[in-house]
Formats: sequence, structure tokens, C-alpha cells
Amino acid sequence: MVGGGGHALVCIEVLRELGCHVVACLSDDPEAAPPGLDVPIAGGSRDIARLLADAGTHCFVAVGDNRSRARLTALVVAAGGTLVPAVSANAVVSPTATIGPGALVMPGAVVNAWATVGAGAIVNTRASIDHECSVGDWSHVGPGATLAGNVTVGEGALVGVGVSVIPGRMIGAWSTVGAGAAVVRDVEPSTVVAGVPATVGYAGSGTRK
Ligand SMILES: CC(C)(COP(=O)(O)OP(=O)(O)OC[C@H]1O[C@@H](n2cnc3c(N)ncnc32)[C@H](O)[C@@H]1OP(=O)(O)O)[C@@H](O)C(=O)NCCC(=O)NCCS
Repeated sequence: MVGGGGHALVCIEVLRELGCHVVACLSDDPEAAPPGLDVPIAGGSRDIARLLADAGTHCFVAVGDNRSRARLTALVVAAGGTLVPAVSANAVVSPTATIGPGALVMPGAVVNAWATVGAGAIVNTRASIDHECSVGDWSHVGPGATLAGNVTVGEGALVGVGVSVIPGRMIGAWSTVGAGAAVVRDVEPSTVVAGVPATVGYAGSGTRK
């Protein structure tokens, strides 16, 4: 497993539910390992190629930050690693949905008919992805977020905890939708929106120094 923080804890539990044995974690910040981490940290990201050679070729990248997850996954693939998806046994995934390599679908999540979840994407706890949605590579749909039908989440976008998105809207690549927002208009790429309804100029958005 690449990653050894809090996000790794939940990923390890999902993988174990599926019968996987997690041999080792790689973390560039081993001091930050949470107390519950019971898998040894065997190095950092510079050790990816060595560890894949030592321990077999299957790998899961358990890093919450979307850009970091994309970067580290590229290192795993370059080292010949095979990305496993981690779909919780306690998620509900339609037989017509597709889940990409290295994606994570957490307990309580629903991925409905003909939805697609891209490579390395995260569908977090109790998130709901309705029919024909497209959740892009390296994106993250946060806990309890609800995407109505035909929503597109672009590559690397973060949809915060508890967000609601009405049908057919597009959330641009590498954008962020703040926690609790209601998305009723398309979101431009690489922008931050929040509020109900979600806008770029949400209260407080101009206050950050
Ligand atoms: C919207 C967001 C990206 C803004 O981050 P930020 O720029 O670091 O924001 P700050 O905490 O500095 O807050 C700046 C202002 O925006 C307001 N604000 C922050 N998040 C907000 C939100 N989700 N909705 C409405 N207003 C928000 C703050 O109250 C603050 O206003 P103030 O200056 O009047 O007090 C972030 O708060 C957020 O919601 N991220 C989503 C996180 C998430 O759900 N991740 C899933 C992890 S599992």
C-alpha cells in the first residue's frame, strides 16, 4: 500500500474485507502514522519499485490528496505494479456500473446503473452516485455526497462532504466543491465553489490572505 495515514486505515479495512493481506505500507511521513496502523511502514515513495519487486505486484494507493494520488499511481504503474480496486463488500454497486483500477468505494456507498468510476477515484463513505454519472480519474466524492443522475465529475475534482448535485451538472477537472454545497450550475475547471447554491463568491471566499 502506498500511504500510511488515516486514509490508509480505511483502505486497509476494505481490502481485508475482500480477503487481501496488506503486506506493507510506504509513507513519506512515517511520523504521522495513526496509532491504529497495524501494517509495517517499509519505506517511502522512493521505495515503490523495490517493494513491488519484494512483495509481489499488487498495489493500492491510499493517499487522500487527489494530485498526490495521481502522481504516486504513475510511479506504481511505471514500476510494473498492478492496481487493485477496493470496493467495500458493504457498498452497493450496480452490475452495469464500472469501477476503474485503483478506485476506492467505501462502505455505505451506492454506485447506480451505468455509472462509471474512474481510475484512482474515491467514492467515500455513504456517497451516492446515481445512474449514468461519470466520476473522473483521481477525483474524490466525499462522505455523504449525493450525485443525481448524469452528473459528470471531472478528473481530480473534490466534491466535499455532504454536497448535493442536481441532475446533469458538470463539475470541472481539478475543481473543489466545498462541504455542504448544493451544485445547481456547472462548475468551471480548477475553481473552488461553496454554499447553497454553490458559487465562486461564497461568503468568506474573499477573506483568505
Ligand atoms: C470550501 C473549502 C475548500 C474552503 O477552504 P479554505 O479556503 O481553506 O477555507 P477557510 O477554512 O480558510 O475558510 C474561508 C472562509 O470560507 C468559509 N467556508 C469554508 N468552507 C465553506 C463551505 N464549505 N461552505 C461555505 N463557506 C465555507 C469559512 O467560513 C470562511 O469564512 P469567514 O472568513 O467569513 O469565516 C473548504 O472549507 C471545504 O469545504 N473543503 C471540502 C473538504 C471536504 O469535504 N473534504 C472531504 C474529505 S473526506
